[in-house]
Amino acid sequence: MLSAGPQRLLLLLLLSCVTLVLLFQVVDAKRDLTGACVTCQQITDNFNKGLERTVKQNFGGGNTAWEERKLSKYETSEIRLMEIVEGLCDSSSFECNRMVEEHEEHFETWWFKRKAKHPDLHKWFCIETIKVCCPKGTFGPHCNSCVGGSDRPCHGNGMCDGDGTRGGNGKCSCDHGYKGEFCLDCIDGYFNEVRNDTFSLCTECDTSCKTCTGATNQECDECKEGWEEDDQEACVDVNECANDSSPCEEDQYCLNTEGSYSCKACDSVCSGCTGAGPDKCQACASGYQDTEGTCTDIDECSQPEAVCIEEHRECINTKGSYTCICSSGYEEQDGECVQTPQPEKEEESESSETTTTPHGEL
Ligand SMILES: *[C@@H]1O[C@H](CO)[C@@H](O)[C@H](O)[C@H]1NC(C)=O
Ligand SMILES: *[C@@H]1O[C@H](CO)[C@@H](O)[C@H](O)[C@H]1NC(C)=O
Repeated sequence: MLSAGPQRLLLLLLLSCVTLVLLFQVVDAKRDLTGACVTCQQITDNFNKGLERTVKQNFGGGNTAWEERKLSKYETSEIRLMEIVEGLCDSSSFECNRMVEEHEEHFETWWFKRKAKHPDLHKWFCIETIKVCCPKGTFGPHCNSCVGGSDRPCHGNGMCDGDGTRGGNGKCSCDHGYKGEFCLDCIDGYFNEVRNDTFSLCTECDTSCKTCTGATNQECDECKEGWEEDDQEACVDVNECANDSSPCEEDQYCLNTEGSYSCKACDSVCSGCTGAGPDKCQACASGYQDTEGTCTDIDECSQPEAVCIEEHRECINTKGSYTCICSSGYEEQDGECVQTPQPEKEEESESSETTTTPHGEL
């Protein structure tokens, strides 16, 4: 019994490993099916480029009329084919080189026997001969039609999975604005400007609509959040800031925007405000007073009520407040200002400071 536990665990581990490997193989095989077609497409593209590149070439050397007749023309020669085949792949592309190597005789067959009847190399080679691709609008091992038909997959409003390859499942991933299996339906915020069984054009609604039947704000089915219906049944912006109870904090003001609002910090001299700056205060913050509609700092030091009245103290005004410091030559000790001990030799320089610093400020 005791040994059953670890054994079972081991079995489980083994099973999950096998599952994982199988899963990866399936994924890999799928990628191979589309990947092989992409590789083949590159090869045939490069073949066509090679054809163009060699179109003006000849055998080199004395290309006389006699030689042309004798050796068959360069245009259809094996030498030209070899030159083109050599340029089909980057040396670093393993998949490409493998595919070319594996199917080299097909290029010869096509070059000498099929080219005239089947001029489209991609079609002849990738689709019909080595069967790694499908015709446009079809997908999968048997080249079935994509959802919506092979002429206009996804009704022209999306991409068919595996389109043109032997992979994929043929289902649509719709372009922005479209949804549904067939990409004929519109997503929220879009409406069908034109629609029948095979064709659909989805256009964006007015920004005020969540859903709509037309392009204006009077054609909303439902207003988006932040908009509301007015008397004419059009969706209009809600002014959240007009509400009796402001949605913002006390030291903020409300700024209405299309479909929303934002809260901005009041100026620091305000206690509550209706907008930005020291002239939009509802009341002044403590330490500030209303001066012709603007909150300004109170100079407590020059107020009639004396502040900093203790001995040897001086008043320093600050923004919104003041501080009491010890007069020069005195220093703070246990809440009192006591004379700073003055070493003999530095007496002169210290005393000269004493007279300038504080009185200059006052
Ligand atoms: C659907 O509409 C498109 C575009 O207006 C048109 O070309 C097509 O013929 C219509 N199809 C049908 C079945 O009505
Ligand atoms: C006004 O505020 C109340 C309470 O916060 C809220 O229920 C209401 O929706 C607001 N009205 C507007 C127009 O924002």
